[in-house]
Amino acid sequence: MASDKSIDKPWAGRFTEATDTFVEAFTASVLFDKRLYRHDIAGSIAHARMLTRVGVLSAAECEAIVDGLQDILRDIERGDFTWSVALEDVHMNIEARLTERIGIAGKKLHTGRSRNDQVATDIRLYLRDEIDAIMAELTRLQTALLDVAEREADTIMPGFTHLQVAQPVTFGHHMMAWFEMFNRDRARMQDCRKRANIMPLGAAALAGTSYPIDRAYTAQLLGFDAPAENSLDAVSDRDFAIEFTAAAALIMTHLSRCSEELILWSSTQFDFVDLPDRFCTGSSIMPQKKNPDVPELVRGKVGRVNGNLIALLTLMKSQPLAYNKDNQEDKEPLFDTIDTVRGSLKVYADMISAVQIKRDNMAHAARSGFSTATDLADYLVRRGVAFRDAHEIVGKAVRRGIETGKDLAQMTLGELRQFSTAIEQDVFDVLTLEGSVASRNHLGGTAPDQVRAAVKRGRERLLRAAG
Ligand code: ARG
Repeated sequence: MASDKSIDKPWAGRFTEATDTFVEAFTASVLFDKRLYRHDIAGSIAHARMLTRVGVLSAAECEAIVDGLQDILRDIERGDFTWSVALEDVHMNIEARLTERIGIAGKKLHTGRSRNDQVATDIRLYLRDEIDAIMAELTRLQTALLDVAEREADTIMPGFTHLQVAQPVTFGHHMMAWFEMFNRDRARMQDCRKRANIMPLGAAALAGTSYPIDRAYTAQLLGFDAPAENSLDAVSDRDFAIEFTAAAALIMTHLSRCSEELILWSSTQFDFVDLPDRFCTGSSIMPQKKNPDVPELVRGKVGRVNGNLIALLTLMKSQPLAYNKDNQEDKEPLFDTIDTVRGSLKVYADMISAVQIKRDNMAHAARSGFSTATDLADYLVRRGVAFRDAHEIVGKAVRRGIETGKDLAQMTLGELRQFSTAIEQDVFDVLTLEGSVASRNHLGGTAPDQVRAAVKRGRERLLRAAG
């Protein structure tokens, strides 16, 4: 029996038969949770130091453990570590190797600890680093948006509602709308990091431990804000992962909106922008094609992140306290979400400043859709016409424009006065695109000066967030 492989397992004391081979593979998580190795080792080193400080381990044992774990870390990073499915997960793989190397001291590392608080700690440490990386990518993307907005503060394009030409806006203003979305996304990440940064270690399996542990010390070593207040909650809830995935789903949703616009704008029909070739691919059959693959793929990837969010919510639903093996299923959706969001943000941050803006085409489109009709109505109101009457007057002028193929600014004063004698020569100031955007000159408005001011504030907001 002693030579049987399953009886070699660290928990095999009360078992009389080997794990079924399929069950062994079915229940193992090492193939995906091995990516937690760095955080698992950091957690173990802190735990060993704390045990030493409270007198549970000797200084020599601690030194052997810390050195051994650091050697293992180097081996893993060199690709010189064989992961074993029989050892189930990242935790037991590393612990078994440590014992193999340093003997009895390795077997003492798990004193006062369980894989339940260990894994909950690892995921939080790992997620904390990933959130930091995601926030850095968000900042990079936002900086690129600020640069484009500043450069294109005077560029005029049609603004849309219902995807119909509505009123002229500046392209810089449009970029700043994207900036705002990602600014909220970054704030959500930062907020969710606070709740993730609480330490489960010390909860042990579920009830705490009888050793005289110093949780505040371990938390301090690992950079956690505090130890978790309740052991049952600490080992069992994955709400921080759900919260993160929900925030990630919003990032992807925002990216999908940007993607949709870039895809439309780069079509022959709009022809507002040109995506750099290095972010596009061609067609194997149609020689003329240049496809906006990157925005399309990012738009498509929202599906998997939304799916991951539902997977995690469903995983947590109705789980009784405390730890259940169900929670092993938290990792793949979480990891996939992290990879997807990081990749999507990275490619966007790289791509945005390289998008070529076709200013003439945008201005032409803004001129052709009666986009200054509201400006004419507002002009009439300033001349004493009631807004509803002004609306009616301009509606009739637009109908004439459609019949004659002329935009409002292309009509003569005589033609315009047929609709209202309140119209004078100065009407042409408001019918131009430049006049229209410049008149929306208040905080949050589209006027070029407002865009420049918003960019300046945006840069300050990013600096404040970083500092
Ligand atoms: N691999 C497990 C997980 O990811 C680690 C915790 C296992 N705990 C246990 N009692 N089986 O959740």
